[in-house]
Amino acid sequence: MIQPPASKNIAIFASGNGSNAENIIAHLRATGSPLNVALIVTNRADAGVVQRAARLGVPVAVLTRRDINDPATMLGVLEAQDIEFIVLAGFLLMIPPFLVDRFEGRMINIHPSLLPRHGGKGMFGRHVHEAVIAAGDRETGITVHRVSHHYDSGAVIFQARVPVDSTDTPATVEAKIHALEREHFPRVVCEAFSPIP
Ligand code: GAR
Repeated sequence: MIQPPASKNIAIFASGNGSNAENIIAHLRATGSPLNVALIVTNRADAGVVQRAARLGVPVAVLTRRDINDPATMLGVLEAQDIEFIVLAGFLLMIPPFLVDRFEGRMINIHPSLLPRHGGKGMFGRHVHEAVIAAGDRETGITVHRVSHHYDSGAVIFQARVPVDSTDTPATVEAKIHALEREHFPRVVCEAFSPIP
């Protein structure tokens, strides 16, 4: 008899609204993927992602910056859920070096611009879209990349582009970016962590 592939657990780290986290969870469930979001890690108890996780029945770990930077605490939380892969989806704290090393090649991040444009410390969410408008860019997009020891660097896995019009504002650019994320990111997560041995 053919056995279904054993499931592999993902943790999603998120600090905000959590729309990407929800889209990924919904996609994996709808497609019967062997990848399973077994944990949401957040540094903000009041983040929207916490309510979304509760609604979706996914456990949440609310960790302080100190917890995240403590190897015994951070790795203990992940090991308790048998986490093999990490997705950063709007997570705003720096990932400590021990975690980058432990999950080398198994941790990805999404950034809401066409890196290397508009990346680096302090560049997140609306700040990125404001920078795109201020620079007069004619296009923007999303970048999914492996996580390395520096903000918004590491091998690029995927980019998608969208035009920026003269009438666009940071809010309209943000809406375009969320649409691109919804369209592509869940599938890119699946591809990034496949083939599963
Ligand atoms: C997303 O647009 C993501 O690309 C961005 O934060 C947003 C989170 O939205 N990430 C960064 O800016 C990382 N530097 P969400 O909480 O609704 O998924």
